[in-house]
Amino acid sequence: MVHIGIIGAGRIGKVHAESIMNHIPGAVVTAIADPFMNDDTKKWCLALGIKKIAADYRAILEDPEIDAVMICSSTDTHADISMEAIQCGKHVFCEKPISQDLKKIHEVMEILKGSPVKFQVGFNRRFDHNFEAVKAAVTNGSIGDVHIVKITSRDPEAPSLAYVKSSGGMFLDMTIHDFDMVRYLTQSEVTEVYAVGDALVNPAIRDAGDIDTAIITLTLETGAIAVIDNSRKAAYGYDQRAEVFGSKGQVAVTNDTVSKAVISTAEGVCQEKPLYFFLERYMASFTKEVTQFVKAVEDNTEVPVNITDGLMPVLIAKAAKLSLEEHRPVKLSEIIV
Ligand SMILES: NC(=O)c1ccc[n+]([C@@H]2O[C@H](COP(=O)([O-])OP(=O)(O)OC[C@H]3O[C@@H](n4cnc5c(N)ncnc54)[C@H](O)[C@@H]3O)[C@@H](O)[C@H]2O)c1
Repeated sequence: MVHIGIIGAGRIGKVHAESIMNHIPGAVVTAIADPFMNDDTKKWCLALGIKKIAADYRAILEDPEIDAVMICSSTDTHADISMEAIQCGKHVFCEKPISQDLKKIHEVMEILKGSPVKFQVGFNRRFDHNFEAVKAAVTNGSIGDVHIVKITSRDPEAPSLAYVKSSGGMFLDMTIHDFDMVRYLTQSEVTEVYAVGDALVNPAIRDAGDIDTAIITLTLETGAIAVIDNSRKAAYGYDQRAEVFGSKGQVAVTNDTVSKAVISTAEGVCQEKPLYFFLERYMASFTKEVTQFVKAVEDNTEVPVNITDGLMPVLIAKAAKLSLEEHRPVKLSEIIV
């Protein structure tokens, strides 16, 4: 049995805790820490069977019963807590991004070198059943050499301005999943990025120094070309699609819906909207990524999403930001750590 401590009892901390307690027989959430734990969250912990509740995450790091931690706190805390956890010998599952600061990610990498500790990054979309099927078609050679990747990734609603201001910008907060998806589907590194974007959903997002709409073109080491389109607000819900086109054919996945019913009448043909947001669309993938983390800890095998997989999308996001600011293609080699 792998004993897990969860650091940060917010949205994603709760998702992971419920996944483990309800769906992962080989693991248990033994403790949870959050400095802003309220009575409702305490009740939720007890109802779930989590016995140790703390304000300070160090209680988890110092607890000999805990084998692994899941860092689900605010982004600005991930790197420092990761380093402390590695030094305490705890296996780490760190939510994305490891940090908005490339130097900090390199510090974590240094501390991890030679350590027996497992370190997995929370790029859950790799474990989504649709994207797994796309990946399988690419890796088994069905579509031949990859020439074009197209990713549509649009949220159903824009976040609050307070969130926007602390998010590090749309590329680091939202597109980071799509950058990871391009690497995952192609198994190739990005060499150049060209991004255009604006705040078309909410001008206040522009005033806050960010964008809410973008098209990003990526050139890959293999020569393949990828294009990502992002919006913070699609009126019809969470729009998550991908297509990979190659020398022998193409593979594409569309949105998940509650049912696949299509109702045809004299007025027209109607089907359901996409599942509302990431908690609905990706719930199974959250369970699957943690199941694989637990397995890597139990069997002492490689984690499926390692620290380099955590670093590269941050590097791409930095290049995209520079491209947007300077209205030009930016090579990844230009991004100095
Ligand atoms: N993989 C995904 O799809 C996904 C989805 C949502 C969030 N995330 C990531 O997870 C992280 C948290 O996001 P969220 O939406 O759950 O945010 P949230 O604000 O709902 O929760 C964050 C929690 O961390 C707590 N916290 C802050 N500092 C802490 C500390 N030092 N020790 C312990 N707890 C601390 C806060 O009190 C809060 O309860 C972010 O980095 C975000 O990027 C990933």
